[in-house]
Amino acid sequence: MLSYDPHDPRWLVDGVPFDHLARIRAEQPVCPTPTGARYLSRYADVEAALKDVDTFRADLGVLSGLGGVEEVPDEQLYLSEIDEPRHGQIRRLFNATFGPHRIAAEADFVEQTCHRLVDDLVAHPPGDLHAGYALPIPGLVMAHIMGLEPEAATHFMAWSGDGRIMQRPCTPGVGDAHEPHRWFAEVLAARRADPDPPDDVFARLAGAEVEGEPLTDTEILTQLQFMVQAGVHTTRGLLTHLAGRLVAEPELFAQLRHDRALVPTFVEESLRHDAPVQRTSRRCTHAVEFAGEHFDTLDWVEMGIASANRDEAVYDDPDAFRLDRPEPRRHLAFGAGPHVCPGAALARLEGTVSVQVLLDRCRSLDAVAGATYPPVPGNLGHAPIPAVLVEDT
Ligand code: HEM
Repeated sequence: MLSYDPHDPRWLVDGVPFDHLARIRAEQPVCPTPTGARYLSRYADVEAALKDVDTFRADLGVLSGLGGVEEVPDEQLYLSEIDEPRHGQIRRLFNATFGPHRIAAEADFVEQTCHRLVDDLVAHPPGDLHAGYALPIPGLVMAHIMGLEPEAATHFMAWSGDGRIMQRPCTPGVGDAHEPHRWFAEVLAARRADPDPPDDVFARLAGAEVEGEPLTDTEILTQLQFMVQAGVHTTRGLLTHLAGRLVAEPELFAQLRHDRALVPTFVEESLRHDAPVQRTSRRCTHAVEFAGEHFDTLDWVEMGIASANRDEAVYDDPDAFRLDRPEPRRHLAFGAGPHVCPGAALARLEGTVSVQVLLDRCRSLDAVAGATYPPVPGNLGHAPIPAVLVEDT
């Protein structure tokens, strides 16, 4: 019997074994994992399970150092883990912050940030497109969109880098010392003391009523933390993959430079081919027959986004990176259904602009021999990209 461990730390170093995933899709599409979960590998199954939120409930407990959400007080549940109808009501507050209108207004800031970072790379060769570009952009943009000083980005990157952003106050050994909560609590207190506070995400969360009640401070802090958790290192993964591919494929770099209209397609194909979130976990709320198997209440099910995005039933030649796919946005990189990523427009903007600015500013990009990017933490299973880059204007 085949098995697959989507949490295996080797994938961070060696890359995800896509040939093994292809075998799993063909021979054992619902595949057991060493921890007793089952990994869904086919596009149709992953999409159906993501949409069926009444049966498959998100559980990020293991990522935050716990056994599961049963160990988490309700106030510390992340947006992904909250059931309807409460989920939809809190999610509206996220949409108000990250919806298309708000995101369009962010384009200039993203572009200026990218140019400023390229200035620094050029001034201090050899430039490192990971540490000096893909890593800082998402934190700086998140801080800006939240109305915070740029220094906030330093915290966001540090918490995302060492995994603290995944922990919660209820994680063993954390408690009141949970730094993201303490930091956001100070910001919230300052906003409340401000006689003329800006109309931003803090005001929206603090002023909201859900089911007739205001959110508690712990709930507000939990959702603020989750925005950073969900939006910073995911986007870093996308920008890293985009930059890495521009370095690895000079012909593609030249093609995009020649035809800028292809850049959004390039971003979509990267999201499909190198999904920054390679898997996400669910648990069954009740016993169910699904994809020909029986699942009991509380069984763990892994949504194999990485595998679904390479499913030959949906994509011709799925391991190839191609800009001529008929439906470039038809991938599950942002999930599906009621919990589909509300930050997708922002991630796409950052991806597109970060590539456009590199095409504007660089004639070519050269890898430094032997240099590698560090693996992205968070157990999401990114394939690393071997290159530190020399900027060549
Ligand atoms: C390339 C970058 C990104 C990728 C690949 C990504 C991927 C995902 C995926 C797969 C989900 C669904 C998770 C699940 O159903 O278990 C999700 C949800 C979410 N994402 Fe993103 N995301 C990205 C960027 C962002 C950004 C920039 C933000 C915030 C600004 C964000 C905020 C969220 C939130 C709050 C949720 C939970 C939504 C809900 O449960 O209703 N993401 N994302």
